[in-house]
Amino acid sequence: MSQLPAVLTIDGPSGSGKGSISKLLAETLGWHYLDSGALYRTLGIAALKEGVDITNEDATSNLINHIKLEFKRTDQGGWGVFLNTEEVGHLLQTEEVGRVASTIAVFPKVRSGLLAMQKSFQVKPGLVADGRDMGSVVFPEARYKVYLTASADERGKRRYKQLIEKGINANLINIIRDIEQRDERDKTRSESPLVVPTGAVYIDSSFSSIDEVVQQVLNIMK
Ligand code: DC
Repeated sequence: MSQLPAVLTIDGPSGSGKGSISKLLAETLGWHYLDSGALYRTLGIAALKEGVDITNEDATSNLINHIKLEFKRTDQGGWGVFLNTEEVGHLLQTEEVGRVASTIAVFPKVRSGLLAMQKSFQVKPGLVADGRDMGSVVFPEARYKVYLTASADERGKRRYKQLIEKGINANLINIIRDIEQRDERDKTRSESPLVVPTGAVYIDSSFSSIDEVVQQVLNIMK
């Protein structure tokens, strides 16, 4: 049996509730949490800041060697995402950054460049890994695997509510259209497409609350 710390992978499209559910699961289990989308998003922010051509695979992947990307405690006690020394958490969830992240995530050199960093999160007592290819590529040997999804309309409504609550201007029709386009890009890219990983339990959260899904996953783990 593997001596590596246990991993629970939660894969699925944007807005499936993966983020909130994975964080709650990590808290409940007392495990570490990897938000792999935040790595792609932070690289996207770096590309925007440096004015790098995001259609150029070499230019975008080279950035990985030139930036310092960290998850660490903020002065307020929470967890922050740092690009070099700047806390960029407040920029991560904008639609623009999401679009850039999804665009650069198609590049094999970007994906392989971020692989070691993602693997380094597998530490004791365990890891909840949230993303698109956690159970298929990054942690194929994970002990527990979940694929979480919801309808595009439902995901759009959730995303819209989140943005409005944060005071960010949003348009529901555009958000649903963006979600559908991003799903298409994430599912059809040749490198690590969004798939239901072998051995994953499929959960549709369209009509379930976050707490219900958390409980469902904990039951599956038992
Ligand atoms: O989960 P998210 O919306 O924060 O992810 C942003 C983008 O990053 C998403 O469109 C696809 C990409 N991504 C990926 O390709 N692989 C992952 N493991 C996580 C995210």
